[in-house]
Amino acid sequence: MTVAAPDTLSTETRAALAAPGKLLIGGDWVDAEGGTFATHDPATGGVLAEVARGGRGEVDAAVGAAKEALGRADWAGMTPADRGAVLWRIADLIEAEADVLSEIEVLDQGKTYATARRGELPGAIAQFRYYAGFATKIHGTTIRPSIAYQPQGRQVRAHTLREPIGVVAAIVPWNSPLLMAAMKLAPALAAGCTLVLKPAEQTPLTALMLGRLLERAGLPPGVVNIVTGFGHEAGAALAAHEDVAKVAFTGSTATGRALLDAARGNLKKLTLELGGKSPALVLADADLDLAVPGLMRGIFANSGQVCVAGARVYVDRKIAGAFTDRLAAEADRLRLGHGLDPASDLGPLIGPDHAAKVAAYVEAGKRAGAEAVAGGRLAGEGPAFYRPTVLTGVRPEMALMREEIFGPVTAVTPFDDIDEALALANDTEYGLATSVWTESLSAATRASESLRAGTVWVNCHSYFSPELPKGGHGISGWGYENGAPGLENYLETKTVCLSV
Ligand code: NAI
Ligand code: MG
Repeated sequence: MTVAAPDTLSTETRAALAAPGKLLIGGDWVDAEGGTFATHDPATGGVLAEVARGGRGEVDAAVGAAKEALGRADWAGMTPADRGAVLWRIADLIEAEADVLSEIEVLDQGKTYATARRGELPGAIAQFRYYAGFATKIHGTTIRPSIAYQPQGRQVRAHTLREPIGVVAAIVPWNSPLLMAAMKLAPALAAGCTLVLKPAEQTPLTALMLGRLLERAGLPPGVVNIVTGFGHEAGAALAAHEDVAKVAFTGSTATGRALLDAARGNLKKLTLELGGKSPALVLADADLDLAVPGLMRGIFANSGQVCVAGARVYVDRKIAGAFTDRLAAEADRLRLGHGLDPASDLGPLIGPDHAAKVAAYVEAGKRAGAEAVAGGRLAGEGPAFYRPTVLTGVRPEMALMREEIFGPVTAVTPFDDIDEALALANDTEYGLATSVWTESLSAATRASESLRAGTVWVNCHSYFSPELPKGGHGISGWGYENGAPGLENYLETKTVCLSV
């Protein structure tokens, strides 16, 4: 049992936890009419801090502030270079505060310090630097149309303008809170939009710290507003708001569907980064010294609470025994504990209810004939810990093979040839990501062309960088984040026709 005592926390972290949890609206930090709610450390179950419970009234005020800032001279009139400079300063400030932000993220979310500090903080910083460069590279095109237009001998010339889409609602989940917020804020700000950010109720703390950094970076008031609160209150009010032009969402497929309904009124645009049931294909010629550790990270990082986690592993029958033994042995070696304890390989799940949900999938699988060759049980370390689990003897129709578990659970299935492997991998409504492990260029090429997914990794899994478009096919989502397509989400095109 290795749960860190609070007296090991840095002074800065303690100050951040003690700061009253207010909402950032129009440049002011304000209380919510609905009072506050508690956010917990999932490793201990203890209360970390009280944050404001934003509701409809606060959402109205925040959207109003964002709408007002959208056309205001200090934002709309800022030069692209200055806008890029603000984004770059945000990155610098996050970098300067990365240790404290990581510590807060670990406390609020449960992940290990290494995951936060070495993976997600650099990712968030990179988002702002990448899109900082885009601020000066947003421009339309000039077009010569083909359709003749000759009243009084005149012709048409045309060009396009690129304009910010308007007020954006960024609704983010609890698995990688700061990184998810950065993935939405950076391109939206580069495009000149204004936003209301709603962090997940389980993990509001780094968003509030980010709010302070945005102010210090010189972002004008009202450009980013932050409303903490629950999904069915603040989230639902934001998603249905008539003055929100676009919702950028990451979370569950169920909530994604609810957002479609909420968007009906003003037909707001949506990008939806939803769940997954991502397969990994290990071919007979795979380098297991690469594949086993690569998949260990791809499956179990962040305790499996990753949208692209390798939830289904298909292995050539010729190596299935050796591969499964190695994976199970590695899984059994992982040490669970508080994310701030450097000895911990994995932290808890986001909460006891979620741990119970993960356990229920595994128990149902076992009753139907699956075998846990590693894990398969809640761990004693705290209310929300679950042992990293490797299942065999699964069948495609089991719920654990079809639905997103979002925990440290994977299932290994042998296959006899690559056609069978590709068919099994594609046997899902999801289509977020896949990985293929092979030394064969032709097998990798064939698999990458046949797999239905937004990302195919070859000999790696869960690799992200802001340059690489990321999105879901099927019920994994709508649209793409990152790269140039990620910027397009936040821009409208206006065509100007000139009769000359
Ligand atoms: P969720 O999708 O309900 O929550 C994500 C965000 O949406 C949070 O900020 C939440 O407050 C907000 N939200 C919830 N209901 C809303 C509504 N009606 N209108 C507007 N905003 C709303 O996910 P939840 O319930 O926390 O997790 C359930 C499952 O979803 C997980 O077990 C996992 O399978 C999946 N999930 C997937 C994620 C991914 O990265 N793909 C991230 C988080 C959860
Ligand atoms: Mg929390």
